[in-house]
Amino acid sequence: MNLEGKLALVTGSGRGIGRATALKLASQGCNIVVNYFRRREAAEQTAKDIEALGVKAEVVRANMVDPDKITTIFDIISEKYGYLDILINNAASGVGRSVMELDSKAWDWTMNINAKAALLCSQKAAALMKDRDGKIVNISSLGSSFVLPTYAIVGISKAALEALTRYLAIELAPAGICVNAISASAVETEALKFYIKEGLIKDNRQTTPMGRMVLPEDVANVVSFLCSDDALMIRGQVIIIDGGTSISPFASLT
Ligand SMILES: NC(=O)c1ccc[n+]([C@@H]2O[C@H](COP(=O)([O-])OP(=O)(O)OC[C@H]3O[C@@H](n4cnc5c(N)ncnc54)[C@H](OP(=O)(O)O)[C@@H]3O)[C@@H](O)[C@H]2O)c1
Repeated sequence: MNLEGKLALVTGSGRGIGRATALKLASQGCNIVVNYFRRREAAEQTAKDIEALGVKAEVVRANMVDPDKITTIFDIISEKYGYLDILINNAASGVGRSVMELDSKAWDWTMNINAKAALLCSQKAAALMKDRDGKIVNISSLGSSFVLPTYAIVGISKAALEALTRYLAIELAPAGICVNAISASAVETEALKFYIKEGLIKDNRQTTPMGRMVLPEDVANVVSFLCSDDALMIRGQVIIIDGGTSISPFASLT
């Protein structure tokens, strides 16, 4: 797939799935805006690795919970490039609690980054994608459709993100913008390894039908397909990447 000369913003791309996605798009010739919030060093390393692939990388710090910071990142893109081809709404956060323990603060924080930021970024991106066959991919998780322990507010926010995906797909189709989402089961990232080590999540390698966990690169490969013109007739869908876990009664999601 050739994305030569295109420009992508990948939110939360200093590490994990965002980093793998940024590198995959860069390997296809795409210039990348790397967004981070707390981990500057990780973002700078990702930018270096992107540039080593022969494309441009721009690192921008922005807290996606703050609408003013979202405006700033798009102002930078607008002034420097004047266009955007690809938006990956990947940055996410959350509070690990059961439904009965949720309060307004946990709700607002999680919904604002996982769902509202995707709305605001998509609105601003659409304005920069005029006549450029733009692509938007939202990164969701299986917790949107399945009940996982202490994942309530993240799961609810991801369900909102998936519904947003469908509305955006229809509203933006006449503007030539293709919108989809992916939904992954547990992905083997740094954060997940920590949770497994601490006993907060089970190591489900053995019970995943594929015999291994999903890797950030597995997600990145599907995202890059959705950003290609080969996927143009896929609209508003949520593509599940889980090695068969969600359709296997013997597998465990957590
Ligand atoms: N890992 C999994 O098992 C899994 C499974 C399914 C779906 N997902 C989804 O995949 C996406 C990436 O997850 P991940 O596991 O790779 O990453 P992660 O460990 O959850 O890290 C989140 C990423 O988002 C950024 N971020 C967090 N809060 C932010 C904020 N307020 N503003 C801007 N950026 C912020 C972080 O940047 P900084 O480090 O700079 O703060 C980091 O790059 C998320 O949407 C997640 O829900 C993950």
